[in-house]
Amino acid sequence: MKEKYNLMEKIVSLCKRRGFIFQSSEIYGGVESLWDYGPLGSLLKNNIKQEWLKRFVQKRGDVVLIDGTVLMHPKVWEASGHITNFADPLVECKNCHTRFRTDHMADGRFVGEGKAKTKNQCPQCGEKDFTSSRQFNLMFKTFLGPVEDETHATYLRPETAQSMFTNFKLIQESMRLKIPFGIAQIGRSFRNEITTGNFTFRTREFDIAEIEYFVKSGEDEKWFDLWVGEWEKFFLDLGLKKENLRRYEHKKEALAHYSKRTIDIEYRFPFGWSELAGIANRTDFDLSQHSKFSGKDLGYFDEESGKSYIPYVIEPTLGIERLLLALITDGYQEVKGGRTKTTESAKETEVLLKLDKKIAPMKVAVLPLVKNKPELVEKARGAYNLLKSHFACQYDEVGSIGRRYRRLDEIGVPFALTIDFETLKENDVTLRDRDTMKQERVKIDKLINILKEKLEK
Ligand code: GAP
Repeated sequence: MKEKYNLMEKIVSLCKRRGFIFQSSEIYGGVESLWDYGPLGSLLKNNIKQEWLKRFVQKRGDVVLIDGTVLMHPKVWEASGHITNFADPLVECKNCHTRFRTDHMADGRFVGEGKAKTKNQCPQCGEKDFTSSRQFNLMFKTFLGPVEDETHATYLRPETAQSMFTNFKLIQESMRLKIPFGIAQIGRSFRNEITTGNFTFRTREFDIAEIEYFVKSGEDEKWFDLWVGEWEKFFLDLGLKKENLRRYEHKKEALAHYSKRTIDIEYRFPFGWSELAGIANRTDFDLSQHSKFSGKDLGYFDEESGKSYIPYVIEPTLGIERLLLALITDGYQEVKGGRTKTTESAKETEVLLKLDKKIAPMKVAVLPLVKNKPELVEKARGAYNLLKSHFACQYDEVGSIGRRYRRLDEIGVPFALTIDFETLKENDVTLRDRDTMKQERVKIDKLINILKEKLEK
């Protein structure tokens, strides 16, 4: 167990040291459960989103993308059931006043990601005296306009789903879509979480990527199963190891208010198996509720049967930051004695971040063998200028070549190019593969095509 916690600490440290993730407002002491993504983290996050969009919107043809607002009409949250139901049970330690989610205190599946280990004992101060459990609504409340009264109150969205329901008719008609079809969205969501900790796993602000897939009732169970498979395949294709993924079926009595069936895809995080993503069968709950509350017909007219009906919805959903954390955890490797096993590296432990090439924040690095030979530096700068409009590319001339390779391995750069004296004569470079450490000579004028081919493999 101890070693697993060390792994988490090492990942947090790597993320900070190498510009992936920083605590928000760190110079003021930081804010719990809010994290900023630095230069490499934001590129990585963007690449994950692009892969998701390519796969589930661009390549499918039956899913369209939207970009809805964070603030919506307050009635949305009444209709969706969030005002009444979007709450977690909360208890407070009477001694130290720390608040916990009641379900994180109990022995059960949440214990892995919560701080509590023993039933009924405060993990903060060890006391056993708690207030009774009450429901705490997780939505952040705010006001539209300058008047701060209840008639102007609304909420920051806790999920992106609702604008896909409220716009259902507009999207279906303007795009002439026929069922089955899906609406996709990636967007910022906000939850005033009670339990914090575990780095970026449970935060108060995060990106959800989700699809509302509209189907005929009666076909919902088939589509549910298909989407579970699609979601899992996406994670495997991004490189997550099969043995670190599993399904968790929600018990009937624990289902969300809108769901007939939910399966979570869990990842084996360093703090235990925890939810990475989910697939829910939301039935016709949301469209029916919005029809009722808005007074607008959100039915779908089926040309074949000449009848109108409220479609069922299958919702595959996923937290981008959780996927990012899973990908970093899965790709993190330590090589004792160094990767090259030289006598100098014998006492060192080198870190290799084996991110899939598709999502690696930097694809290529250009390195002059030494920085004090102007002709080498000029040649390397030339190669860098050539490549940077094709690939996320970085230039590095500081330190020995071995040290620079180690820095690149730590941030998962798939390819490094070294410009040496041979380059000046032959116009070729050494291309090093991060995973195999194999090196080959490649002509500079062939580099773009060769790298493109290797990155797409
Ligand atoms: N529209 C359905 C929905 O929002 P959810 O399971 O509550 O479902 C979707 O959230 C996904 O968002 C989860 O599978 C998880 O990956 C991610 N997620 C939920 N709460 C989160 C939090 N506090 N911090 C980071 N990610 C979170």
